[in-house]
Amino acid sequence: MESQAKGKHNGEVWNKVYKSDNAFFGQDASNFALLCFNHMKMNNVRRILELGAGHGRDTTLFASNGIEVEAVDYSNVAIQILDKITKEKKLPITPRIFDVRRALPFPDSYFDAVYSHMFLNMRFSLDELHFLFSEKRRVLKQKGFNFFSVRNHNDKSYGEGVQIDKGIYDINGFQIRFFTEKEIQDLLEGFEMLWMGEENEEPVNLYIVFSKKI
Ligand SMILES: C[S@@+](CC[C@H](N)C(=O)[O-])C[C@H]1O[C@@H](n2cnc3c(N)ncnc32)[C@H](O)[C@@H]1O
Repeated sequence: MESQAKGKHNGEVWNKVYKSDNAFFGQDASNFALLCFNHMKMNNVRRILELGAGHGRDTTLFASNGIEVEAVDYSNVAIQILDKITKEKKLPITPRIFDVRRALPFPDSYFDAVYSHMFLNMRFSLDELHFLFSEKRRVLKQKGFNFFSVRNHNDKSYGEGVQIDKGIYDINGFQIRFFTEKEIQDLLEGFEMLWMGEENEEPVNLYIVFSKKI
């Protein structure tokens, strides 16, 4: 387990969540992870980066099927849970405490795919998101996959809470951006959009995106 977390938002809200429930998002992999895994298998993906992995419900699906995963999250509690699972099950996961608003700690052209589920809709400014997409592009191999899901305007929580930043709402202490299609398109500079769909994973509504570095 590695630690490089810094910055004013240090994952305390999420630490509380994971302390009160070690498997807050459930033990089973998400539907989105299953979809991406099929695509990874067909394309011989061997090494991936997972951003905002949480307690690792999706990480463990990928790793149990032989994919090497670098898993980052700024919640040290989430990473401790994932570290324990990794050791117990002897999985090819490297869990790392890391705030992705900093440059990613990986070399250029290192991963076959970058994956994140319900993560880019956390409290990131548009500038931070653009920086993160340029970093994802840097660490991906040529034609590497960029899989992600984000909450959208059809989510039943959209419009609730208090606006705390441009496009970001605080709903019961969770700070969330609800994406439009245009915001997604704008982030995909240097990527080819392969497919975009919509999925309801109660209680959230998501855009799910498969794209590829060009
Ligand atoms: C909605 S949860 C999703 C967790 C996991 N992807 C899943 O679906 O089970 C978002 C995760 O992003 C992490 N996170 C939020 N902001 C972050 C940041 N700036 N850097 C790294 N992780 C962050 C949180 O700690 C949390 O675990």
